[in-house]
Amino acid sequence: MDNASAYMTGFGNEFATEAVPGTLPVGQNSPQRVAHGLYAEQLSGTAFTAPRGHNRRSWLYRIRPAAVHGSFSALEQPRLHNRFDEIAVSPDQLRWSPLPLPEAVVDFVDGLYTMAGNGAPSAHAGVAIHLYAANASMQGRFFYDADGELLIVPQQGRLVLRTELGVLEVEPQQIAVVPRGVRFRVELPDGPSRGYVCENFAGLLRLPELGPIGANGLANPRDFETPHAAYEDVEGDFELVAKFNGRLWRADIGHSPLDVVGWHGNYAPYRYDLRRFNAIGSISFDHPDPSIFTVLTAPSEIPGTANMDFAIFPPRWLVAQHTFRPPWFHRNVASEFMGLVHGAYDAKAEGFVPGGASLHNCMSGHGPDAATFDKASSADLSRPDVIADTMAFMFETRAVLCPTRQAEEAPHRQRDYQQCWAGLRRNFRAP
Ligand SMILES: [Fe+2]
Repeated sequence: MDNASAYMTGFGNEFATEAVPGTLPVGQNSPQRVAHGLYAEQLSGTAFTAPRGHNRRSWLYRIRPAAVHGSFSALEQPRLHNRFDEIAVSPDQLRWSPLPLPEAVVDFVDGLYTMAGNGAPSAHAGVAIHLYAANASMQGRFFYDADGELLIVPQQGRLVLRTELGVLEVEPQQIAVVPRGVRFRVELPDGPSRGYVCENFAGLLRLPELGPIGANGLANPRDFETPHAAYEDVEGDFELVAKFNGRLWRADIGHSPLDVVGWHGNYAPYRYDLRRFNAIGSISFDHPDPSIFTVLTAPSEIPGTANMDFAIFPPRWLVAQHTFRPPWFHRNVASEFMGLVHGAYDAKAEGFVPGGASLHNCMSGHGPDAATFDKASSADLSRPDVIADTMAFMFETRAVLCPTRQAEEAPHRQRDYQQCWAGLRRNFRAP
């Protein structure tokens, strides 16, 4: 199913792909009659007048326009929402064990579980952070999110994302991004599956600037992969599920909306293998701020201050001398939601396991636990150290991340998390 030729490479490139030869019009976007009896439809992901370098839109040539479906009615999925004022948000550091996998039959949409968020989809500002735990492929239903683009981070099990613009397969240590509005369904070839989702309400994720790093490094554009056109020509009694303005809606649809025979443009889903990230760090003393690990960033209106950053902590060498090699103790104006895809995280001796999560909100102190501090304070720095088996990540936001009530009250929340710092003794000795 998965091979290199199934994807086109590059970030934000102008792609052109057709599943049936001769589908794409030459020299114009919407001719009087599209080849093969198809309809032309533009899908715009940015304002029409966004600067050229950030403008994203694609032209879809499809069997039926996206407008063809029944009327929407509310769909109850109480674990998925954007209500970020449910509880009084405390400055406590929070941590969770993995979300339990379901016992009943649950697909990707029904398996979404909102942990925290900020802003509002109606304002196109902020994020929602969800987990998913599911065990069944979506059957006869299709989903799109009008509220934001979806950054999907699988932790257990592969996902096959059958989208309007082609098929993406992702496995743990890869990510997928499904743009706002793109319709898709999710298949679970490995059965029980779990992962993380950041729903970005604001400006689209893009590659960070590299500044003094130069022309190469971090996530390289050629490692981003977008699928070729693939379509379904299927009729039946199906369901179209929309996330719109903070909640789910459903409509009857008599055909698969994944009926795009060809498309061209630069607004499309993509995947990226986190193991291809070119980690860059200190070769003298003191490691850089974690922004050095930024994979993708979604800007706000303030230059250099992202609505959301996606950073990873991948395998890497630690060579800095006369320094404290793990992440230092810190407090930030930003708020940090972390997850662990694979292996162990170097700032915590125990308790932060693959599938788990932590939340350190604006100005809440955090850093290595007592066991990690003791070990790193007396480590032999004459030799390099390698962190070989790890893949942690962070959704970092400019605004406070407000946990949902279900996250606050979850049985799998580790209510003793703060105790991981209780063993940090007073070592001060006045001279
Ligand atoms: Fe932090």
